[in-house]
Amino acid sequence: MRKVWWKEAVAYQIYPRSFMDSNGDGVGDIPGIISRLDYLQELGIDVIWICPIYKSPNDDNGYDISDYQDIMDEFGTMEDFDRLLSGIHERGMKVIMDLVLNHTSDEHPWFIESRSSRDNPKRDYYIWRDGKDGGEPNNWESMFNGSAWEYDETTGQYFLHLYSRRQPDLNMENPQVRQELINMIRWWLDKGIDGFRVDAITHIKKLPGLPDMPNPHKLRYVDAMDGHRNVEGIHDFLQLFKREAFADYDIMTVGEASGAPISEADRWIGEENGAFNMIFQFEHVNLDFGPEGRWDFGPWEMAKLKGIMKKWQTGLEGIGWNALYLENHDQPRSVSRFGDPDNYPKESAKMLATFFMLMQGTPFIYQGQEIGMTNVVFKELTDYRDVEIYNFYRERLMDGKDVEETMRRIAYRARDNARTPMQWDDSLFGGFTTGVPWININPNYREINVKRQLQEADSVLNYYKALIRLRKENEALIYGRYDGWLDDHPEIFVYSRTFEGRAFLIVLNFYGNAPEFTVPPEFAGFKRDVVLSNYPDRPDRKQSSFTMRPYEAVVFRLER
Ligand code: NOJ
Repeated sequence: MRKVWWKEAVAYQIYPRSFMDSNGDGVGDIPGIISRLDYLQELGIDVIWICPIYKSPNDDNGYDISDYQDIMDEFGTMEDFDRLLSGIHERGMKVIMDLVLNHTSDEHPWFIESRSSRDNPKRDYYIWRDGKDGGEPNNWESMFNGSAWEYDETTGQYFLHLYSRRQPDLNMENPQVRQELINMIRWWLDKGIDGFRVDAITHIKKLPGLPDMPNPHKLRYVDAMDGHRNVEGIHDFLQLFKREAFADYDIMTVGEASGAPISEADRWIGEENGAFNMIFQFEHVNLDFGPEGRWDFGPWEMAKLKGIMKKWQTGLEGIGWNALYLENHDQPRSVSRFGDPDNYPKESAKMLATFFMLMQGTPFIYQGQEIGMTNVVFKELTDYRDVEIYNFYRERLMDGKDVEETMRRIAYRARDNARTPMQWDDSLFGGFTTGVPWININPNYREINVKRQLQEADSVLNYYKALIRLRKENEALIYGRYDGWLDDHPEIFVYSRTFEGRAFLIVLNFYGNAPEFTVPPEFAGFKRDVVLSNYPDRPDRKQSSFTMRPYEAVVFRLER
């Protein structure tokens, strides 16, 4: 396996709107990010991924781009961006930007032209169709609920939008569209950025003919998964972007690739053939979906979690590289999902950190995860900001569903859980802004904040630092082979990393009970040293069996 910088890096994701506000308008901005670069450097971060900061009317917080080559006014100017870029590079860090190829904003000049008349030269930049039987061209549902089609009066046709109605999908079949995107990508790379996280990339190819999806339950609209996710032919587009842009630069590329199967790993991320360096797969974060899908939730199963991690960890060995994550701006907070924020907030946050940070791959820490931020509980619908939530609410009520149950589902699944302001200190609004934040802060900021955790030796934050250090000092924790152990244990998650005669054993109690752990016989003959533990007393754990404490995490170094 090739050794390269992006495999050794630890990445940190910034959601700029909620990270740090420098001018008191309640919205995070680029100068705010600059003011926190030292913090990130001290944490041990190598690569920063910044969510979209391009010009945008903010229907989907920047994922609706109206100018790919300019900066959103609320976030600053291109000069601010240039200062950010050099500030990051001066500190020996790198930066990757979000690359949104699937759609633009409806305020993008291409779309404004496209919708102006049927024979406009840019008409075919987007996907326009006539209606069918007095309704939409097909039964596809948007990812944000409701129909994926919007009728446009001016020309009497519908346009396709897989996300919000203000995010029309680009027509990737049009070679001019592809060329425009390639030029834009090269423009940013020439500016000196270090790569991209590529948004919603499995959607860029649509099923030819845009057919109706089977609808056995007679729904109004059908999740069109098979119609527009990882459709045959997508790799031609991906390879084109690689050939015409990415391949000419020493960069890091990560595709957001919901639905990309591991069987296609070589084409997605193979060392030679892959379109990207890594992909974000979704299986482990989809684990708590209920029978009705994403907006329903149920208990997640340990056996399934083990199976998914093993599948990706061992399945990519020698083929490609994993992107490791538990959180991002689209996911609820991991402590609230997989840990116990009420009884073991610190222990479970640290255990989860140990779980994902020491696997094979490049770890991505989402802002606030390093201090164990939790889901927020908003009481009113109007406390939420996310367009997706309002669509979901409207569709549910249109279907006659109960308001209380709808609000319960929103509280659990809302993307806004991850979008509340970063909790820097215990001053009003957590030191995020001197104004009024665009979305309310989680009231627990007085207990959970950066300032306090910098001072407390056994804080989640200091634990993250220790983990990052441990990973950097041990190649086995970067390049080592992953093996999963105790597959049938209902509470304890165990894996090892081995590399050139060195090994680590990572033992994690995922629950609040006190299960008995026995070292797998394969490691019985090894000398074991505890190199990290999430309880401050750190017992030496010399016995081959011991009782684990709630959410305990132990990292052993093994030697023959
Ligand atoms: C995935 C992004 O992470 C999400 O925030 C966004 O809403 C959609 N793609 C659409 O761009």
